[in-house]
Amino acid sequence: QEVAGREAFEELIAEDSRVEPRDWMPADYRKSLTRQMSQHAHSEIIGMQPEANWITRAPSLKRKSILMAKVQDEAGHGLYLYSATETLGTSRDELTDQLIYGSAKYSSIFNYPARSWADMGAIGWLVDGAAIVNQVPLCRASYAPYGRAMVRICKEESFHQRQGWEILYELSHGSPAQKQMAQDAVDRFYAPALMMFGPPDADSPNSQQSMAWNIKRFSNDELRQRFVGMIVEQAEALGLTLPDPELRFDEESGQWIHQDLDWDEFMRVIKGGGPCNAQRMARRRDAHEDGAWVREAAAAYARDRADEMDE
Ligand code: ACO
Repeated sequence: QEVAGREAFEELIAEDSRVEPRDWMPADYRKSLTRQMSQHAHSEIIGMQPEANWITRAPSLKRKSILMAKVQDEAGHGLYLYSATETLGTSRDELTDQLIYGSAKYSSIFNYPARSWADMGAIGWLVDGAAIVNQVPLCRASYAPYGRAMVRICKEESFHQRQGWEILYELSHGSPAQKQMAQDAVDRFYAPALMMFGPPDADSPNSQQSMAWNIKRFSNDELRQRFVGMIVEQAEALGLTLPDPELRFDEESGQWIHQDLDWDEFMRVIKGGGPCNAQRMARRRDAHEDGAWVREAAAAYARDRADEMDE
């Protein structure tokens, strides 16, 4: 049976079709997807924190309601992704425990502080912009529940990116101090946003196999490159500068070349040593523990309902 399953799986991958939860799949494929999808879910949930921090300080009621909606969207993304990951056989409780009490990873970017209102613009424009470039190809990931979750998430991320761009546009066309605040936010988020795409291809242990399985469609460097090409013109339209003295257009390859990134910093951040790792994890843990009574009440209610149905 395993031989037939493996053959069917390899055929699905070869014809660029999709794998559904009940299909046979190799243990390594299941494990690698669980890894990537759960890290992605954790990132969405931890990613709520830097922005939630600014909800009470948004400069107008309109901005506040937009930011609240955006942060709620991120919660929704986390929930679709946990559900999609559960179809691979690991429960959401277990995945949550891996984050809170274990050493599961989440995106490096959310370990940087959001210091000013302009950071809400830079996060929307650069962080959600990078997320879109990374995630649009994942809509075609070979694991069907992941691809399906990505379609809706990408639509919402596009709206998030536009709202970030608009915040920066307003600031950069405001007073000199506002323009400076926008520039300062872009200066701080540019390099960390480029690191979101992961280590350089030569140091990316998972890429090759993930690409062979049609989970990832492009390498980390390819997507990083595509993102830089996209934001150069957008930065010009914003009237802001990208903090990259080595940025140049290479006529031969037709691509924008960016500066080397500080990969030691990246490694430090993903190992827990970034400016906000400890705070992000402490908040997540407290929120989870404070919410225990809600989970218990919901479970008790569900049990009562099930008993009533049995009677
Ligand atoms: N932050 C934290 N960890 C990272 C990052 C990052 N920016 N980039 C890579 N890593 C981790 C990988 O998870 C991997 O760790 P593991 O082997 O312990 O699981 C290790 O560094 C080596 O990296 P790669 O071999 O390149 O890993 P992979 O092939 O999984 O590629 C990538 C990394 C591009 C992030 C991929 O997992 C992916 O596309 N994930 C889905 C998108 C995502 O998670 N986005 C989250 C941020 S967007 C948002 O939430 C709004």
